[in-house]
Amino acid sequence: MTRAFVAEVEAAGRRLPVRACAYEDDPPVWLFPSIGEYPLYDNFAYGQMLNDELRMQQYAAAVAKHAPGRTVLDIGTGQDAVWALAAARAGAQHVWAMEVIPKSAQIARQVIEEAGYSDRVTVVEGLSTEISLPERVDLCVSEIIGTLGGSEGAGSVLRDARERLVKPDGLFIPHVSVTTVVGLDLGAVTAEPPAFPLFVLDYVGQVFNCLSRPFDLRLCLVGLQDNPARQDLAYLSGAAEVETLHFNGDLQPESTDAAQIHFGKAGRLHGLALGMRLWVDPDGTGDPLDSLIQPSSWTPVYAPLSQAGLPVREGDRFEFTWSTELSDDGVHPDYALTGTLHRRLGPPVPLRWSSGHHSSQFRKTPFYQALFPVE
Ligand SMILES: C[S@@+](CC[C@H](N)C(=O)[O-])C[C@H]1O[C@@H](n2cnc3c(N)ncnc32)[C@H](O)[C@@H]1O
Repeated sequence: MTRAFVAEVEAAGRRLPVRACAYEDDPPVWLFPSIGEYPLYDNFAYGQMLNDELRMQQYAAAVAKHAPGRTVLDIGTGQDAVWALAAARAGAQHVWAMEVIPKSAQIARQVIEEAGYSDRVTVVEGLSTEISLPERVDLCVSEIIGTLGGSEGAGSVLRDARERLVKPDGLFIPHVSVTTVVGLDLGAVTAEPPAFPLFVLDYVGQVFNCLSRPFDLRLCLVGLQDNPARQDLAYLSGAAEVETLHFNGDLQPESTDAAQIHFGKAGRLHGLALGMRLWVDPDGTGDPLDSLIQPSSWTPVYAPLSQAGLPVREGDRFEFTWSTELSDDGVHPDYALTGTLHRRLGPPVPLRWSSGHHSSQFRKTPFYQALFPVE
């Protein structure tokens, strides 16, 4: 049983009312902020990534295949230096392991020393875009893929690495990412609008603190990707692909995509579930990781479009333009979607959604007004 109530989130010296939830047995679909695009990695976040079996298997296989004999750069090595160490163990000549969060870089240094690889793995603390290396490397490994493919800045960060840090014929792991878009009937899987369990409120406050103010932060829906029965009920369409990032090719951090989704069954369209597909091996082999349908450390993002839900039927379609534009920090994209819902019964309906990395909007739409009720 789920109980919804109003709690408070502490942020930037203020206490804000927020819709929260508690549950007894079957966890509902609930909200968690998309935190990877902020410097908020902690034991919980790193632990989620290490426990993500598919991610670990695909990266481990690609690193073991491509690192031997090569010089390697690991961008965002994290506190476990997991791919830097994997590359060294596989026989890389030398590994440069970069990490921007000072505490994570310090722990990574200890972990590497304890593993006995300090002579072959050098930890460099700072942002890869602000660091130079004594030589260009043969292989760049990174896992800075966001809940939306490019939301952690993979497009601009890895283009910079291609231009300055990696040999012209050097390889990148991962290979390609895309952002995926599916129509969502939220009412089919939850009677109550989704809310934050109490333990999540600290993360909401931390994201607000990054900007010293509250804003309409990007939110993930937990409880869909590990539950095929819920996916069957909630996903109304197949997935459209937008924001394609070719890390071993023509990498464009900004793009505009025209796309459409086709509804395969009747339901109420409340919004979109946004995910990412990731091809890890630079040879382009193997199935992609897919965050909309696989349990993973990447959780689907919710793009709310209609609080009441718009009735759709099989054969209806949503045509839209997706834009990925770098925010004024030059790294993290702002996303926007505008489109038209075409239904056989009823006039076309214009719909829009946007999500800025450090948006100035707060309580801008009915969804955020309900989530953060006014004091
Ligand atoms: C998703 S975690 C990945 C950690 C680890 N590589 C793994 O795969 O388990 C991303 C890490 O990259 C770091 N990071 C992101 N962008 C970076 C950049 N441009 N330079 C250095 N570190 C970065 C973050 O602080 C975080 O520790």
